[in-house]
Amino acid sequence: MDHFNYHGGALHAEDVPLSRIAAQVGTPVYVYSAATLTRHFGLFRQALDWTDHLVCFAVKANSNLAVLKLLGDLGAGMDVVSGGEYRRARAAGVPGERIVFSGVGKTIPEMRQAIEGGIRQFNIESEPEMRALSDLAASMGTEVPVAIRVNPDVDARTHEKIATGKSDNKFGIPIARARTVYAEAAALPGLKIVGVDVHIGSQLTDLDPYRVAYAKVADLTRALRADGHAITRLDLGGGLGIPYRRDNNAPPLPIEYGEVIRETVGELGCEIEIEPGRNIVGNAGILLASVIYLKQGEGRDFLIVDAAMNDLLRPAMYGAHHDIVPVVEPAVGAEVRRFDVVGPVCESGDTFQKDTQLPMLAAADLIAFRSAGAYGAVMASEYNSRPLVPEVLVSGDHFAVIRARPTFEDMLSRDTIPEWL
Ligand code: LLP
Repeated sequence: MDHFNYHGGALHAEDVPLSRIAAQVGTPVYVYSAATLTRHFGLFRQALDWTDHLVCFAVKANSNLAVLKLLGDLGAGMDVVSGGEYRRARAAGVPGERIVFSGVGKTIPEMRQAIEGGIRQFNIESEPEMRALSDLAASMGTEVPVAIRVNPDVDARTHEKIATGKSDNKFGIPIARARTVYAEAAALPGLKIVGVDVHIGSQLTDLDPYRVAYAKVADLTRALRADGHAITRLDLGGGLGIPYRRDNNAPPLPIEYGEVIRETVGELGCEIEIEPGRNIVGNAGILLASVIYLKQGEGRDFLIVDAAMNDLLRPAMYGAHHDIVPVVEPAVGAEVRRFDVVGPVCESGDTFQKDTQLPMLAAADLIAFRSAGAYGAVMASEYNSRPLVPEVLVSGDHFAVIRARPTFEDMLSRDTIPEWL
């Protein structure tokens, strides 16, 4: 459930007509609903309320400071994968003891920044990283809490570019080698083993891969405890999928996911961390755009809109589908047409949907790409020198611009022409 619905024939974000946002901010623009964010975060909490837990929002899904502040104020922890994300989480007011640092290539400056600023735990992804962190922490005269990310070799049955738990992916330490690596970690200075970490992929629409992976984590935890390690936390990653098509079977709910966690690792008595991103913010956002032209092609019509692959990369990058809906609700029985919905960027890949059915639309009409709150704005670029897409947050009947569209002067001023040119 989200808060983007038609009222009186006009699509709203909560109580704000999207046409009002378009008139004030222009298009394309991302629009998020505070009520949907709050609701989705609450669902994960509720799913884990049977145990000690921390829901760490995966900052990579949406790193706008206002979104992080909203979630942080609700009590969310943050899962970060770079020094930049760490700084964003802190700038949004999230204390270090609620920030988990994941990622396969943490640099020394990034790790130092997190140690100095405060950190809940590092999720270690490789032996070289483990040794580097040990050296660093020891040289700073401190000890840092660590979990080791294990790769359980489980097929998450998702898009190949976002599956992370198979042995041929770059992530984590093969689970078969985990005991050896934990033994080394225990012997290294500067590290305090607190848990085990796993993340098998994103946009999972089936709970079985979780069941298999978490059962392996439970076995490993027992073995590690038998080896003498104090495993008190399990970080079970993120990845629960969202419905991208309204007419499709919906993926499992957070509450069902919470049950799988209870069944597989519940009896170990560990504190549970999870790192959902998409499920919290995906359907809490839309990308609002305008039609520029309706162009008749050879045997097909193109709806050329003012959003492009640089604003919403997922269709070009993963062949992803985002439902497109008109902002003015079509009358029952209104004429429909088939269009290819495309952006203005000079690549054929800049196609959002092919041969899709929409009501008759004309230049300047507004449309919304649904389910665009996760991995939308964060993956945007200025390709084709298109200004970085702005973001708006709605709460009830008011809204605020939470990232302004840069001016062309801003964009040009970032480049420097050397004196000698
Ligand atoms: N934790 C770790 C260690 C991750 O690598 C990820 C996502 C998450 C948590 C959050 O997963 P989520 O709950 O959002 O599925 N750009 C792609 C998605 C990449 C996901 C990468 N890792 C897309 O647009 O589909």
